[in-house]
Amino acid sequence: MDFKDKVVIVTGGSSGIGAETAIQFAQQSAKVVIVGRNEQKLRNVAISCESAKGIKPLIIKADVTIDSDVKSIIEKTMERFGQIDILVNNAGIVAEAKIQDGIEVYDRLMNTNLRSVYLLTSLATPYLIKTRGSIINISSVAGQKAVSKFVVYCTSKAGLDMFTKSLAKELGEYGVRVNAISPGPVKTDIFAAAGLDVEAFVRNREASSPLGKIAVGKDIADMVLYLASDKANSITGSIYVIDNGRLLE
Ligand SMILES: NC(=O)c1ccc[n+]([C@@H]2O[C@H](COP(=O)([O-])OP(=O)(O)OC[C@H]3O[C@@H](n4cnc5c(N)ncnc54)[C@H](OP(=O)(O)O)[C@@H]3O)[C@@H](O)[C@H]2O)c1
Repeated sequence: MDFKDKVVIVTGGSSGIGAETAIQFAQQSAKVVIVGRNEQKLRNVAISCESAKGIKPLIIKADVTIDSDVKSIIEKTMERFGQIDILVNNAGIVAEAKIQDGIEVYDRLMNTNLRSVYLLTSLATPYLIKTRGSIINISSVAGQKAVSKFVVYCTSKAGLDMFTKSLAKELGEYGVRVNAISPGPVKTDIFAAAGLDVEAFVRNREASSPLGKIAVGKDIADMVLYLASDKANSITGSIYVIDNGRLLE
């Protein structure tokens, strides 16, 4: 797959699935825009991207829950690269919370996992129409399988799935494809950031998956690149599960 002269925005490009995705695109000669709040982590990913083919990525320090930051993602990308071909809506957080724990966690997760995606995608759409580009949303199997005490996370990802399908219908006439990937557990920093017991969580998920393992970032990034490529030119409105068989349980 060759992404020479393609401009790719990856939100949450400072860590985990997003970092791996940005590096994979850079290895295929894309002009990569990596977005996150942690500048040091963004710089580390940028070094890996640039060392692939010598193309300097654009780092954008932005909080996707702040509207002016989201607008700056599009403005800075257009200023540097003049076009947008691929938008990977990947930034996301998880949190354990019961329904009686208050509205704060709802606002935090929905703002990060869903509202920001809506806003950024709406601002990117005129440019994606010009390039007949592609959108890939990183959802979760939690959007399809109910998980006790993760009602907000599950709801945000179920919303993202329907956003993907509805938008695929709306943008089909412009040749813009919209797809999602729904990973099961992936080895990244997301669980530690949510204050979960990572070792116990991973052990439990590995033991209960039909393939006896959980995914790594590259498993997801490989599918992102495939969906963004011409090989997937007949695919839109689809949600690809990558979960080592967990949804079968
Ligand atoms: N790991 C899994 O098991 C798993 C399973 C299913 C789905 N997913 C989904 O995969 C996506 C990536 O997660 P990951 O596992 O790679 O986690 P991760 O390693 O914790 O990365 C999350 C990324 O999102 C960014 N982010 C979070 N809040 C942000 C905000 N307000 N503004 C800007 N960037 C923000 C973080 O950047 P900064 O910290 O620099 O801001 C980081 O780059 C998420 O949408 C997640 O729901 C993950």
